[in-house]
Amino acid sequence: MAEHTLRDKVAVVGGGEKNLGALVSRVFAEDGARVVVHYHTGEKEAEETVGAIEDAGGQAVAVQGDLTDVAHVRRLFDTAVDTYGGVDVAVNTTGMVLRKPILETTEEDYDRMFGINAKAGYFFIQEAGRRLNDHGRIISLGTSLLAAFTDGYSTYAGGKAPLEHFTRAAAKEFADRSIAVNVVAPGPMDTPFFYPQETPERVEFHKSQAMEGRLTRIEDVAPLIRFLATEGAWITGQTLFPNGGYTTR
Ligand SMILES: NC(=O)c1ccc[n+]([C@@H]2O[C@H](COP(=O)([O-])OP(=O)(O)OC[C@H]3O[C@@H](n4cnc5c(N)ncnc54)[C@H](OP(=O)(O)O)[C@@H]3O)[C@@H](O)[C@H]2O)c1
Repeated sequence: MAEHTLRDKVAVVGGGEKNLGALVSRVFAEDGARVVVHYHTGEKEAEETVGAIEDAGGQAVAVQGDLTDVAHVRRLFDTAVDTYGGVDVAVNTTGMVLRKPILETTEEDYDRMFGINAKAGYFFIQEAGRRLNDHGRIISLGTSLLAAFTDGYSTYAGGKAPLEHFTRAAAKEFADRSIAVNVVAPGPMDTPFFYPQETPERVEFHKSQAMEGRLTRIEDVAPLIRFLATEGAWITGQTLFPNGGYTTR
């Protein structure tokens, strides 16, 4: 089989400074990509991620941006093109979670949640579609709640849900340039993003629902993103629900 890597590719990673995004940035760099590491408030984390990539012999640059502002989304892709001459892979790991009953949700909550989960996701896909080279790859992070029937997450699951339709439309519209567009939608993942809105009992419940009795780890999800990002992997317009990863024994 032909060898497929990210050698000589350029990747933009939205939220690429910490947690899942940071691992994706590092894995892409290990595979030979030059990486634009986007961050919102985590300047220190972005410096650490870029530093780790450079220490390992790779190339990366950090770019700050509030991706609910379309001008900032465009600046992110401008940086990729200006710094590295083009862009091939765009992964958007940004998002915001809220667990709150509908009756208590404010207009501000709604706007904030849909701003980053839906609006930023849309314009990230749009700008990627404008700027990506042929055979490019676009991946957005959803949530397993897209397939769930549960309470409390109306603005989180609801805010992420449009990503599936944006992705299907983009998959059709960009297909003539062989650009694949997908959503990766993990279950409860062991990062600081997950815990603030969950009780210890609910954390134990989530663990009890998974094989191996544990939460998903970022190391379980990154290989799927790597596979989807690599030219030659031909899946498009899909939502993939990684409900596991590597076994620990
Ligand atoms: N952890 C889980 O249980 C879980 C499960 C399923 C799916 N996911 C999804 O996986 C993705 C990565 O999550 P994670 O666990 O790795 O947590 P994370 O690192 O906190 O990811 C969220 C990212 O979004 C950024 N962000 C928030 N608002 C922004 C804005 N206005 N402009 C630009 N960036 C903004 C955050 O930066 P700041 O913190 O600086 O604002 C952060 O980098 C998210 O999309 C999440 O919805 C997570």
